[in-house]
Amino acid sequence: MKIRLEQPVDFDAIDALVRAAFGKQMEADLVRAIRDDACYRPAMSFVAVEGDDIVGHVMVDGCWIRSNDQDRPIVMLSPLAVAPDHQRRGIGTALIEAATSVADAAHEPLIVLEGSPTYYGARGFAYAGDHGLTLPLADWAPPTAAQVRLLTAYDPNDPTLRGDVVYPEPFTGLG
Ligand SMILES: CC(C)(COP(=O)(O)OP(=O)(O)OC[C@H]1O[C@@H](n2cnc3c(N)ncnc32)[C@H](O)[C@@H]1OP(=O)(O)O)[C@@H](O)C(=O)NCCC(=O)NCCS
Repeated sequence: MKIRLEQPVDFDAIDALVRAAFGKQMEADLVRAIRDDACYRPAMSFVAVEGDDIVGHVMVDGCWIRSNDQDRPIVMLSPLAVAPDHQRRGIGTALIEAATSVADAAHEPLIVLEGSPTYYGARGFAYAGDHGLTLPLADWAPPTAAQVRLLTAYDPNDPTLRGDVVYPEPFTGLG
């Protein structure tokens, strides 16, 4: 299994993979909408490849922390998808590591996401509320679904790193 940046030639295969992993079209449409938006980070969007097959995909997108009427750019990890017949082999973990490593190398202070605290907690993430961050979670999501991984450039004394995370346009209005 190899991890590399996504390329335009991969887009149709990624579409099929994301649809299969989530079992619906919404997240595949989200991936396309991200690429059409200023939040897209092509240097932080990866595929996992086995032979000729794309078996995993992850994106890191731009978003903001809003505090005192100021918006500070940060990044979020979403979506993450592994082909159903390739799950539980560490591919998701490897994609998370690729995404967080490149964000760290780009001197991003942290990376936020929505997801299982069990899954992400075992992969370097922690409850975002413990670091002064709120995420705009759906009503049905447990508060601990708001997760953050602090990176090398994180400064706990920087007040712009605490506040309300604001998602980019492709994510607004999603259930
Ligand atoms: C979540 C997902 C990306 C994990 O990918 P993966 O390659 O199977 O993950 P890994 O092999 O690195 O880790 C597997 C472990 O994660 C656990 N896991 C998988 N999905 C989980 C979930 N939603 N909640 C909690 N744990 C989960 C598995 O039980 C397994 O645990 P084990 O090692 O103790 O058996 C994959 O299951 C997937 O694509 N799911 C559908 C899409 C999705 O939910 N994406 C995440 C949105 S935040």
